[in-house]
Amino acid sequence: MPTVWWAERNQCESILDIVGMCGTGPLVAIALCLLIAGVLANQQRTFRFHPNSIRYNVNNNRPIIGILSQEPSKSIASVSPESVSYIAASYVKWLEGQGARVVPIKVNQPDSYYKTVFDSINGRLLIPGGGASLVSSGYGKAGSILYDLAIEANNNGDFFPVWGTCLGFELLLYLSAGRKNFLTPCNSYNRAASLKFISDASVSRLYQRAPNDVLKTLSKEKSTSNFHHWCMTKENLTASSLDNFYRPLATSTDDDGLEFVATIEAIDYPFWGVQFHPEKNVYEWGANLTSVPHWPSAIKAGQYFAEFFVNQARKSQHRFASRQEEATYLIYNYAPLYTANVSSSFLQSYFFD
Ligand SMILES: *[C@@H]1O[C@H](CO)[C@@H](O)[C@H](O)[C@H]1NC(C)=O
Ligand SMILES: *[C@@H]1O[C@H](CO)[C@@H](O)[C@H](O)[C@H]1NC(C)=O
Ligand SMILES: *[C@@H]1O[C@H](CO)[C@@H](O)[C@H](O)[C@H]1NC(C)=O
Repeated sequence: MPTVWWAERNQCESILDIVGMCGTGPLVAIALCLLIAGVLANQQRTFRFHPNSIRYNVNNNRPIIGILSQEPSKSIASVSPESVSYIAASYVKWLEGQGARVVPIKVNQPDSYYKTVFDSINGRLLIPGGGASLVSSGYGKAGSILYDLAIEANNNGDFFPVWGTCLGFELLLYLSAGRKNFLTPCNSYNRAASLKFISDASVSRLYQRAPNDVLKTLSKEKSTSNFHHWCMTKENLTASSLDNFYRPLATSTDDDGLEFVATIEAIDYPFWGVQFHPEKNVYEWGANLTSVPHWPSAIKAGQYFAEFFVNQARKSQHRFASRQEEATYLIYNYAPLYTANVSSSFLQSYFFD
């Protein structure tokens, strides 16, 4: 498995361009066309176009993504003491930058609320729970209800994508393992890292069509932002049988050289998770976040993940009953507050009752 698998793909795409010319070019020998087409057919075998590929059915240009809110830490709560939950604004901006709008999902609501929201949004972003427990918090409970709804919908052919970032990644692993934890403690807090792609990355929906410069940045530069104390190892992904559900696509290493899974893609579901924080590169500037990669190629790489996920959400046909109802759920009903003075992690946050 070459570490620069996209270079091979580049070759394929330039051949695609030449074949395109065959149709219109005036004097290209038929024999040459056939020869190139033969080479192309051969090369294409290395690229499996999964039915979930972004090539298909991209036809909802009003994608709305739900973000599950979470109970705030004491310091964040001090900015809005009456609020029950919050969402860091960086996640919202990360999606908005790709043409999506956001619906905040509240915690401690009746099941009927989660069902209504689920039926109306086109995808869901799972984000870090901060101090929230995966099991007992409102965040963990709502996350579990919504996970079951997403599994059921996709089983019934109702395409519904889910993305997990950092603790959201850990929550996906926990839920998919039948609510069991297979993480191991590690040291990867305030750490910029590169990705080591695993061979499945070249046929994954997530990385298969990523621009070459993005793949190069991710693999050659310390362009991913890590803030986690727990890691999933490749060994445990196998030991837990989670590898029947998720393919690992890339790993990174922690401060002690431990190799951990950095990206997962569900084999039969449109679910993805990253252990790192693609949104921090462009949107978080806390004084203590000294490791966050803010250089241009790292910004572009971080935004690629949002572009990919929002384009997946465009394939979902869920919608609110009316534009009026939609308006009452959108995050524009709330204004973010400055939280950098009380939290090293989040510049701005939205608060909910
Ligand atoms: C595997 O998971 C178990 C928990 O089920 C944990 O105790 C152990 O440290 C993990 N091992 C590795 C190598 O990640
Ligand atoms: C932090 O900033 C917020 C928003 O301006 C303000 O309400 C709060 O009082 C500030 N907290 C501290 C501890 O300075
Ligand atoms: C930043 O880190 C310093 C030193 O650990 C700590 O005293 C300070 O409270 C942190 N700042 C914020 C906003 O969390």
